[in-house]
Parts: sequence; structure tokens; C-alpha cells
Amino acid sequence: MKRLVMAAVTAGCMTWAEAQDTNVIRLPEPDKTRGTAVMQALADRVSVRECSSEELSLNDMSDVIWAANGINRPEEGRRTAPSALNKQDIDIYVFTAEGVYLYLPQEHALQQVAEGDHREALAGPPSPARAQDFVKDFPVILLFVSDLSRFGMEGERVKLMAAMDAGIVSENVSLFCASVGLCTVPRASMDEPAVRRLLKLGEQQIPLLNNPVGYPKK
Ligand SMILES: Cc1cc2nc3c(=O)[nH]c(=O)nc-3n(C[C@H](O)[C@H](O)[C@H](O)COP(=O)(O)O)c2cc1C
Repeated sequence: MKRLVMAAVTAGCMTWAEAQDTNVIRLPEPDKTRGTAVMQALADRVSVRECSSEELSLNDMSDVIWAANGINRPEEGRRTAPSALNKQDIDIYVFTAEGVYLYLPQEHALQQVAEGDHREALAGPPSPARAQDFVKDFPVILLFVSDLSRFGMEGERVKLMAAMDAGIVSENVSLFCASVGLCTVPRASMDEPAVRRLLKLGEQQIPLLNNPVGYPKK
């Protein structure tokens, strides 16, 4: 059964449910040949807050998360996003209607950490305006969490480096989306206490930014 699942994942023809083996979703190989040139992606980058509710395909999920912070030099385990001192402090959590997953870059897989739809926690602190509710219409939201303990030192400068590292991962997502016609917007808004409770984050883990990702509204 495991071999069949892996063959179908490799062929890139699976749904999320089919690719899930116990609590791990194995992602297909990222397609490193797709998308426009970098200059065109820069010309097209824009914050988009409206999208279709269509589920993100597993191939697009694979490509966007690899572009965000996947391993691009396997021999050294280095990543598509640079990080201060190469501490690789940014973890990516993926929120969907079905659950929340932690990206495992070595395995290029998603490990389920919560069941159910928790996108509300990223809509922002509860407020009468609910101006950030648009985020719940996106099929996928990528949350970037820095683990400060990986720096092995303390202070304001460490927090700044973490924020810069998250910003770079977020920009990778924005440029990838621009280059393949997906919708996204970088966001600092979230209900941080709710996110912390849900993901059981320690004191040194800081949820910094998130990017919802979806297809353009028809
Ligand atoms: C660090 C950061 C935080 C942001 N937070 C939010 C947010 O919480 N909600 C939102 O709708 N947009 C957010 N944005 C998007 C900005 O509003 C947007 O980039 C800006 O208006 C410029 O528009 P453009 O991206 O289309 O050039 C954020 C952008 C950055 C860089």
C-alpha cells in the first residue's frame, strides 16, 4: 500500500486525502521548471485578498512550500530562503479546511498537528470590523514561526533576525505566486494567543507572518 501511495505521489496525480498516510502527507517532487522569469514575477507581484474557494492541488502545495523554504542543496541541507547564521529558524505550518500541518523539509512532507478548520485563528484578533476575515476563504494559509532557541543567543537583535528570516520566506511565496498566477498576501495579523494554544508553541517560538494562498476568483 505504502509503495502504491508513493508511486501515485511521484506521478503527481493524487488528492490530499489520497496522499495522506497515517498523519503524514507526502508531497510530490516540486516542479523547478515552472513559472515566469524572476523579473516578470517582480513586475506581477501584488497583494491579493480575494480568491476562489477551490482546494489547492497537491502539486501547487508542493511547489509553493518548496519555494517558501524547501531544501535546494540537499548535500548541505540548505534552503531556498537564506536565514541569519544559517540557523534555519523558520518552521512553516499549513492551515487548511481539514487540519493543520507542520512542513518537514527533509521529507518534503506535511505532518498533521491538529484536525479540523483553524483558519479563524489567523483571521486576526477578534474585532467588530472582522476586516481580515477574507483569509478564511483561502484554501491554504502558510504560517511562519521562528524558533528563537535555534540561534543559541538572546536579545533584541535575535528577534530582528527572526523577523527578517520570516519576511524572506514570505517574499519567496509572494514571488512564486506571482510567477504562476496564484493569489497571496503577506500578513502579520493573527490571533496570536489562539495560534499559540493550538500549536502548543513554546516561549521561544514566535508566530510572525502568514501568507494565504489560493487560485484567482473566476
Ligand atoms: C510585514 C507585513 C505585514 C502585513 N500584514 C498585513 C495584514 O495583516 N493584513 C493585510 O491585509 N495585509 C498585510 N500586509 C500587506 C500590505 O498591506 C501590502 O503589502 C501593502 O498594502 C502594499 O500592497 P502590495 O503588496 O500590493 O504592494 C502586510 C505586509 C507586510 C510586508
